[in-house]
Amino acid sequence: MGVVYLIGAGPGDPGLLTRRAARVLRRADVVVHDALIDRRVLKLARSARLIDVGKRGFGRRTEQEEINALLIEQAAQASTVVRLKGGDPFVFGRGAEEARALTAAGVRVRIVPGITSGLGGLAAAGIPATTRGVSGAVTLVTGHGTGCDPLADVDWQALARVGGTIVIYMAVRTIDQIAERLLAAGLPRGTPAAVLENATWPDERVLEGTLGNIAELAQREEVAAPALFVIGGVVSWRTAPAPVRGARPRISSLGRLEVQPEPM
Ligand SMILES: C[S@@+](CC[C@H](N)C(=O)[O-])C[C@H]1O[C@@H](n2cnc3c(N)ncnc32)[C@H](O)[C@@H]1O
Repeated sequence: MGVVYLIGAGPGDPGLLTRRAARVLRRADVVVHDALIDRRVLKLARSARLIDVGKRGFGRRTEQEEINALLIEQAAQASTVVRLKGGDPFVFGRGAEEARALTAAGVRVRIVPGITSGLGGLAAAGIPATTRGVSGAVTLVTGHGTGCDPLADVDWQALARVGGTIVIYMAVRTIDQIAERLLAAGLPRGTPAAVLENATWPDERVLEGTLGNIAELAQREEVAAPALFVIGGVVSWRTAPAPVRGARPRISSLGRLEVQPEPM
């Protein structure tokens, strides 16, 4: 039996991949990867067979049970199997389910953490997750739970009481309902809010508004996944990133001057 490495590739920009992740990828025999992994990261695995289990568009997404079975099967045939995921494998990445299935099948598992988009993506866009005197807590939340009601997994009342910074993953389809629930729970309409689309990718967009208007803004701008919904005073502490030498600046949809991310 080989070893399966559950690796986090970070939010997107290949320069944010960890050195350990790069080292394991270089000697991988098989890489089972999600959609939206930069091709420069995949290229590091020069001698590996690449298996895409996250196809979008015309391809279908592979079911989780099939992925678990595939990883077990590959571990029986190869010595270094990489399961490559966006962000961190244990933050809304179903990595824990894969680790559990693998260990139950007697397969050795190693975890290589990645930068989660909800922290690293924010920082790269100039939004601090916490700031002294503004936000003393940050909560990572799913905007798409497991039941019929996609918001049922989270206690929105409690979340509004905790305050601080709220970072919501997978919220593109539910942003209006989330905003309504947080407003109903008592957060003021003027609470700063942002939507961060394609964080750290060249086509990153940052929309800034308030809890009262951000859903409308996101709809008008046709925000698409992957995107993060950020709520809290830290949004108004955003530092627009300085231009990188040689990078092409561009104007965001809100008229801000944005720059391409650093090369790898
Ligand atoms: C299935 S979750 C995986 C999260 C991942 N494990 C992580 O730690 O970032 C997918 C969600 O993560 C968020 N996400 C991942 N990469 C992103 C990016 N580059 N920009 C904005 N949001 C991103 C989006 O909310 C997306 O819907």
